[in-house]
Amino acid sequence: MRIVLTSSEAVPFSKTGGLADVSSALPKALAALGHELWLITPYYPQQAELNGLAKQIQSTEQSITITIGHNDVTARILESRIPGTSVRVFLVDQPEYFDRPGLYGDAQGDYRDSCERFVFLSRAVLEICRKFDIRPDVIHANDWQTGLVPALLKIEGHSYGLERTASIYTIHNMAFQGQFWHWDMVLTGLDWKYFNWRQMEFHGQLNLLKTGITFADMLTTVSPTYAREIQTAEFGNGLNGVLTSRREDLVGILNGIDEEVWNPASDPYIAENYDHTTVSIGKPVCKVALQKAMGLPVHMNVPLFGMISRITSQKGLDLILGCSRDLADLNVQCVFLGTGDPVLEKGLMALAKEHPEKFAVKIGYDEALSHQIEAGSDIFLMPSQFEPCGLNQMYSLAYGTVPIVRAVGGLADSVIDVTEANLGKGTANGFSFYEYKSEVLFRQICRTLGYFFDKTTWLKLQKTGMTRDWSWKRSAQEYLNAYQQACLKRSHGH
Ligand code: ADP
Ligand code: GLC
Repeated sequence: MRIVLTSSEAVPFSKTGGLADVSSALPKALAALGHELWLITPYYPQQAELNGLAKQIQSTEQSITITIGHNDVTARILESRIPGTSVRVFLVDQPEYFDRPGLYGDAQGDYRDSCERFVFLSRAVLEICRKFDIRPDVIHANDWQTGLVPALLKIEGHSYGLERTASIYTIHNMAFQGQFWHWDMVLTGLDWKYFNWRQMEFHGQLNLLKTGITFADMLTTVSPTYAREIQTAEFGNGLNGVLTSRREDLVGILNGIDEEVWNPASDPYIAENYDHTTVSIGKPVCKVALQKAMGLPVHMNVPLFGMISRITSQKGLDLILGCSRDLADLNVQCVFLGTGDPVLEKGLMALAKEHPEKFAVKIGYDEALSHQIEAGSDIFLMPSQFEPCGLNQMYSLAYGTVPIVRAVGGLADSVIDVTEANLGKGTANGFSFYEYKSEVLFRQICRTLGYFFDKTTWLKLQKTGMTRDWSWKRSAQEYLNAYQQACLKRSHGH
C-alpha cells in the first residue's frame, strides 16, 4: 500500500511524548513489511539542532503557499528519511510557526496561534501530495493537530487528485482536543456550513479532534481498553457520544515499541547490556550506575523505584505525593525524571530536598537518563489517572523493570497482575490496581516489595516481561487491516 502518515511530532525530528515515538516506529514497521511510506511533519529548527540532525535534512528546492484566513503563507519543504529506513520524510519549514522553543507552548503557556499553525500543517499535507505527485491509498492523521486532514480530504480531496484516498485517524489522547474560538473556523478555509454540532462544532467552539473523528473513514485509538473507555462519560471528555455513534469504525490497536531504540541488549546509553538470560548480572551494574548518577547512596539491596513522565495530573503524580510520607518511612529509593506542571514539580523537588538519601528528582527532558532509569530501576511506577496506551510500562517490561500500574487503557492491556492464578499460568508480569487513591497505591507498593525479596518469583516476573514480543510487527498488521477497511469504505462512498 501507499501510505502517508502525518503528525505534529516524530522521532528523531521532534518529541514531547509517546506520539513522536509512534509516528516514526509505525511507518518504520510498515515499510519493513514492504509498503511505501511518507511521513509529513513540521520542521522545528530548535529541536533539530538539539538532536544534531542538520546533516540529515536536505532542501527539496520546493515550496508551497497556502491561504490561511486573509494571508498567503509560504513554507519551504525539506526532506529526510527516518534513519535506517526507506520512509521518506517531508518537513514543513515555516519559521514563523515552528521556529520556537517549544512545540505547543513555552513557559508562558500554550501558543495562542496553534489553531493557525496546525491548520497550516494539515493543508500542507494535501499540497505536498499534489506537489510531489503522491497518490496514497490512505492518509493516516494523528491527534487534534492533524484532525482537519480527514475533513479536507473528504471535502476538497478531488481538487488535489486525492478523491480515491481514504483517511484514517488515530486518537492518542482525548484530553487534548484542539478547541478554539468559533472565528478560527475562518482559518480552516472550509464553509461555515460544517460548523455544526454533528461535524466541527462543540459547545460553540471549533473542535479539531471532533473534526477528525467525524470525517475519517476509519478511527483507531492506541489500546483496546481505551477504545472502550472513551465511549463512556468518565473517559470520553465530552466526545463519548460522538465516538459511540462511530463505534463500528473504531478499533483499539496497542502500540508497540521500537526494539532498535528500546532494547537492553544493545542500548548504547546504559552501563551494561543484558537480556533475559543475563538480567541478574547486567541490571545490578545499571542500578549502581543510576544511583551514582542521581546522587543516591549505592545500596544493592534497597529496592529502587523509577518514574519517567510528563508531570501532569494524567500521570498520577498526586497519588505518589499523597503517599510520599509513608514511602519515605520505607527502606526504598525513588528516582523521578520529568517536566510539566510547576506545582507538581515543586512537590517532587521538596521531597528530594527533605529526603536526599531516598528521593532523587531531575526536572527536564533527558533521553539518555530515561534509558538509564529503565535499566537501573527495579520497579517502575505508572499510576495514571488515564492512559491511552503508555509506552514506558512496555519499555519497563522489556528491561526487566517490574511495573506498578493503574489498570486503565493500555496499562490494563499490557500489565498482567501478580495473582496466584496468573503466576500459575506464567503470565504475571507486574502489579496493577484500579481505585484511584494514594492509600491503594501505597498498598500495592508494599505488596510489590513482598515479592521483590522473593528472588525466584521476581526473576520469573522479569523474564515473563522480557520475553513477550512488544515489537511493532503485530500492531503494524492490525493497522494494515484498518487501512484496508478505510479504503473499502472510501470506495463505497462512505
Ligand atoms: P505520553 O505520550 O502520554 O507522555 P507515553 O508513555 O506514551 O506517554 O510516552 C512518553 C514518552 O516520552 C516515552 O518515550 C518517555 O520515555 C518519554 N519521556 C517523557 N518524559 C520524558 C523526559 N522527561 N525525559 C525523557 N523522556 C521522556
Ligand atoms: C498519548 C498518550 C499515551 C500514548 C501516546 C502514544 O500521549 O497519553 O498513553 O502512549 O499518546 O500513542
